Amino acid sequence: MKHSRRSWLKNAGIASAGIVTTAPAFSTNRAFSKYHESEVNGQILLNSNENAYGPSQAVIEAINHSVKESNRYPWQTRQVLIDRISKNEGIPSDSIILGAGSTEILQLAGLAFGARGGKIVSSYPTFPLMMQHASTFDAQWMKVPLDKDFSHNLDGLLEACRDAQLVYFCNPNNPTGTKTDAAELLSFCKKVPSETMIFVDEAYIEFTADGISSSLASEVLSMPNLVVARTFSKIYGLAGLRVGYAYAHPEIIKQLKRYHIGFEINMPTTSLYAALAAADDQTFVEMCKKENSKAKDLIYEAFDSWGVSYIPSHTSFIYFETKNFQPELVATLDKHRISIREYDDQPGYARVSMGTIEQVRQFTSTIRQFRL
Ligand SMILES: Cc1ncc(COP(=O)(O)O)c(C=O)c1O
Repeated sequence: MKHSRRSWLKNAGIASAGIVTTAPAFSTNRAFSKYHESEVNGQILLNSNENAYGPSQAVIEAINHSVKESNRYPWQTRQVLIDRISKNEGIPSDSIILGAGSTEILQLAGLAFGARGGKIVSSYPTFPLMMQHASTFDAQWMKVPLDKDFSHNLDGLLEACRDAQLVYFCNPNNPTGTKTDAAELLSFCKKVPSETMIFVDEAYIEFTADGISSSLASEVLSMPNLVVARTFSKIYGLAGLRVGYAYAHPEIIKQLKRYHIGFEINMPTTSLYAALAAADDQTFVEMCKKENSKAKDLIYEAFDSWGVSYIPSHTSFIYFETKNFQPELVATLDKHRISIREYDDQPGYARVSMGTIEQVRQFTSTIRQFRL
């Protein structure tokens, strides 16, 4: 039977839901600009730990130059980026995997090592993506609550690791912004049974005082059960371009790659060139780090003067208690064109990402009106 486009949509239940009401090109453009429009309309986006300064001018130029290569598969460019990352930290190229954001690496590692009916251990609260995805494959998420001071309960994690396939460790942690000292984390990793895979997520490590020198990346060759993930989404400001990477022993990299469909050509050429330019632009990284510290200081100062409790952060966001503010704080701020993040499972707390200094000033002058 022949279907008109309209009747096909109707049968698929899409037209009736009102999702497709315009020609595809128009709706694509609308979807494309929606997020951007909200910013242009004055919404201040402090809810997803994005970098308000990115992408740098060097990145924009690299993207513009690379567009003409879009007709080619990105085989070579991805290798160039891998080699560039390798050179940066002196870790061999066969110990590096690229992903469409570190999210894809979380997915690959989950699938390879724990998600399919296994047990995954993590602190709680933490960045939950891998564990939530794993639950789709009937994996069990063993949550080890953070200690009262929001530090990781390392003994509790070790205990839970005994019969687990994978332990996820976010350092610094999202949403709390706390950091575990590298030596302490390494000593923890060495105690984890060798059959348990350790996934250390370092999405925010560049914002810490010691930067990547406090990373566990250099340990991957001697610890075949360690994966260390990074991203270009945060300090490099490329969240929309989806570039992440991870370091692991070459044997582990091979296992992760088995879950990539299509010969690892998961990353657009423009994104690869953007990441190459970003990696070379350390002046931009330093600027972002400095502005991020200034922004945090502004918020600390305001919170201190109002008696608001917060956790001093090693990242680009601050986790704070909302009890000194009117109820429905996040929804109220949203009406005042400021988006921050709250969590259903963490009542009484919210997380605010750093924006530009101006945006953060706007945040403090708006939120102050809702103090109790
Ligand atoms: C701790 C952590 N890991 C990973 C990610 C995923 O980042 P991306 O997929 O953009 O690299 C995020 C994003 O917010 C994050 O906070």
